[in-house]
Amino acid sequence: MLVWAVASQKGGVGKTTTVATLAGWLQQEHLRVLVIDTDPHASLTSYLGFDEEGAEYNLFDLYAAPEITRDLFLKCIAKTEHQGLDIIPAAMTLATIDRQLSGRQGVGRILSKALTLINDCYDVVLLDCPPVLGALMVNALVASTLILVPTQTEFLALKGLQGMVRTFDIMSQADPQADFDYIIVPTMFDKRTRASNHSLSYIREHYPDKVWTQCIPIDTQFRESSAQRIPLPLMAPSARGAQAYYELLTAIVEHELKRHPRSVSPALAAVLTSDVGADDATLTHHGTEIITTSVQEMCAAVREGC
Ligand SMILES: Nc1ncnc2c1ncn2[C@@H]1O[C@H](COP(=O)(O)OP(=O)(O)O)[C@@H](O)[C@H]1O
Ligand SMILES: [Mg+2]
Repeated sequence: MLVWAVASQKGGVGKTTTVATLAGWLQQEHLRVLVIDTDPHASLTSYLGFDEEGAEYNLFDLYAAPEITRDLFLKCIAKTEHQGLDIIPAAMTLATIDRQLSGRQGVGRILSKALTLINDCYDVVLLDCPPVLGALMVNALVASTLILVPTQTEFLALKGLQGMVRTFDIMSQADPQADFDYIIVPTMFDKRTRASNHSLSYIREHYPDKVWTQCIPIDTQFRESSAQRIPLPLMAPSARGAQAYYELLTAIVEHELKRHPRSVSPALAAVLTSDVGADDATLTHHGTEIITTSVQEMCAAVREGC
């Protein structure tokens, strides 16, 4: 089982969109995927169709328990309407977690320990983080095999990126055994604007080994997807934003195959040779067949856009 945290100390850079879209593609590939919403604002929770009161248990119940058992973990998981895609919802009460946990031993490892209890249940667990460096984000970073750092291609977001990289450095110094492997994902790229081009060049120049070679373009369909509460790959798989995330997914799987080959399930490795992201893929959603046009053509367009 792989665990991918999506984190940035800046809000509005595409974290929740990244989790929802990657999860949507994984679901389309018939993989078993669990998303955990660790942001008290619960945007991912509502993106995937839940109201705050909609689920009986949420992530707060997991953190607040004196001892986490497999039974409790499984109780906290809710099924979304998309088969194979499960969620542990967030709740506003998570905002108090730093106070609740203060003085507890091993406070940064609660989630990573808990995840070992369900190691056999999912191919991928995706963690959506709050934009605040507190217990929730630390737990997510420590639990992950890989961290994705969405970075909006605009000047202010670069500060968020610098803050995040500094956090990785500080955490690595505090725990030399910790291995914070991360990939910077440039998001909301608009090739027509100077600010976008300038920011992308800056990221590539300063973090050459850490930045994904492509980028996620600006695509208004993401707003529509969250308004409709359907991940974009299920709503409009051929949208250029969805296609860019498919390219990202394959890059991540390749990366994980090198870094954590034993944790990559054969089903996940099959993404690299899958038909879903290939030429004229046929996808279904709610029984409606959606024929995408040449996905490879679109991927080429995305690359060109960057
Ligand atoms: N590539 C994109 N193109 C256009 N809009 C986007 C894109 N990615 C995200 N958005 C929109 O930007 C807003 C912030 O994104 P979100 O994923 O919620 O950020 P975060 O979780 O980092 O706060 C949302 O309205 C979302 O629909
Ligand atoms: Mg968010």
